[in-house]
Amino acid sequence: MRQNLARFTQAAFCTLGIVSVAHSAPDTAKGQQLHDRQCVECHKGAVGSDPSKIYTRPNHIVKSRSALSQRVTFCATQINAGWFPEDEENVATYLNDKYYKFK
Ligand code: HEC
Repeated sequence: MRQNLARFTQAAFCTLGIVSVAHSAPDTAKGQQLHDRQCVECHKGAVGSDPSKIYTRPNHIVKSRSALSQRVTFCATQINAGWFPEDEENVATYLNDKYYKFK
């Protein structure tokens, strides 16, 4: 019985190990690269000269960290960006670090 528990605990730790490797910290440099390549041009057209104003205008629409992720996913899907979920997370984290600063 005790041995079974030990084995079970070990298995659980191994699984956690794999999960934490798969979910490594978001890479904001990659996020910036993707964002600058696929998202900035259109925002420039939408707000005029400085494309970052789309995020910093007083009446910006994104109001929370989760809404930011949703918006990034939505926009990436709209333009068929071909991003993986981790790409979307890299971009959302980049935008949050640089502009929104949600907790
Ligand atoms: C076809 C043009 C276009 C493209 C391409 C585009 N966007 Fe947008 N985006 C807009 C417009 C227009 C708005 C403002 C919408 C509004 O005010 O209702 C916007 C708003 C946003 C917002 C919310 C800003 C706020 O008000 O807080 C985010 C975040 C955003 N876009 C992310 C992205 C990302 C990430 C990409 C690249 C995958 C992208 N967008 C590509 C046109 C575009």
